Amino acid sequence: MQESVLSSRRSPPDPDEVEEGGDESKTRKNTTPFATRVSKHASAALSGQCAAVLIFLLILLATAASFLISRPVVCVSPDDSLARTALFGATLDGLASDFGSLGVPWCRSKQGKAVEWTRKDLLKGLEEFVPIYETRPIKNNMYGMGFDHSFGLWFMARWLKPDLMIESGAFKGHSTWVLRQAMPETRIISLSPRHPEKYLKKGPAYVDGNCTYFAGKDFVDFGSVDWASMMKKHGISDLSRVLVFFDDHQNELKRLKQALKAGFQHLIFEDNYDTGTGDHYSLRQICDQDYIRGGGHSCFRDSDEARIRMKRKMFWEKAVDRDELCGGGEEWWGVRGYMRDDFNHSNKAISYDEHFQNSRFVESALDVYWELPPVAGPSLTHQTRYDPARASDPIIEDGRFGLFQRFGLARLETSVFNGYTQMVYVQISASS
Ligand SMILES: *[C@@H]1O[C@H](CO)[C@@H](O)[C@H](O)[C@H]1NC(C)=O
Ligand SMILES: *[C@@H]1O[C@H](CO)[C@@H](O)[C@H](O)[C@H]1NC(C)=O
Repeated sequence: MQESVLSSRRSPPDPDEVEEGGDESKTRKNTTPFATRVSKHASAALSGQCAAVLIFLLILLATAASFLISRPVVCVSPDDSLARTALFGATLDGLASDFGSLGVPWCRSKQGKAVEWTRKDLLKGLEEFVPIYETRPIKNNMYGMGFDHSFGLWFMARWLKPDLMIESGAFKGHSTWVLRQAMPETRIISLSPRHPEKYLKKGPAYVDGNCTYFAGKDFVDFGSVDWASMMKKHGISDLSRVLVFFDDHQNELKRLKQALKAGFQHLIFEDNYDTGTGDHYSLRQICDQDYIRGGGHSCFRDSDEARIRMKRKMFWEKAVDRDELCGGGEEWWGVRGYMRDDFNHSNKAISYDEHFQNSRFVESALDVYWELPPVAGPSLTHQTRYDPARASDPIIEDGRFGLFQRFGLARLETSVFNGYTQMVYVQISASS
């Protein structure tokens, strides 16, 4: 037991590494939190309701044990008590129950309207979607959507039953395929700088027979399309029957304004990056404000927030520490005070005032804001990238291995659970 316990622990943090600001750290791939591993093994062996209780006890036990035995064996130098305390604290912080503990910013809508679907609907959909996902043509969709967002897109497209689906940013065509699974007979319009068929030469890709492509040399940016005549051409008179999906890494404020102007009402944004991360200004970033729980950050080095973020960084690859969050003048909004756009090819410093006005504008257009929760807790998926502290409760909670397995999710490769970035559905209308 002792050996496997020790070998499954990540090595203690190098202080330099923790201070480093790099967004793309690839060094923490296989560092599943210790407590998570314990619960994995336990949950695999047990099933039923007593499992959760047992897992909890095991985690407590193991946490205490690992703290006691860390002194002589693990390579924390004996005088480095600070690092050890941090490690101990982080083990606790890594526990499953801390979803949303650092707050989950969201955008206020005009009337506070909510989506129609419930958690029960999501669970039912999940069970249905797993076998469909297993037939996907692009098995390894690196840099594209993983399982969580594929499910979200499929679920919402199927629920909303649009008469037309528009996607901006198709890459190899995985999202086109997902939309097609949700709505087998519905026309798709796909805008993408590179035609998905280009990828077919090198490997798997998906080109749809009932999709109008504006791609390659025919590419037109979403903001430059004459949508009124395009809708006429496709026989669409009711724009509330159209679903627009953005996976194009453009400033989402810009896209929201363009969609409003065209009269679209149902939008899904794939990469709804958290504050301090990502290559474009997202709705999540825009609505990260003082008056929202988890919004309006502290750049004070000795703050609780800074301390907690530093610890979490040791366990979650994409967690954001104080130095990544804050610019030189303590600008925390956007990404260190910048509004990124166009895959980060454009990068504009904005004032806090401007950031605040942006969120007021978004609120004035919003009827619904709904972030897709992660599909399952990290002890089940073994993802080590996104930080649960900034996400809402998963559809399948940690400890429910029986359900996870019954839905076929345990058959999927771990890497498909790595891409969660708070996909969001919004309903918009011009403010009256
Ligand atoms: C396109 O959709 C129609 C029904 O709307 C169907 O009859 C036809 O087979 C589809 N074509 C392709 C290539 O999928
Ligand atoms: C984004 O662009 C800025 C400067 O334009 C650069 O400093 C930063 O490293 C870039 N970030 C990423 C993740 O590409």
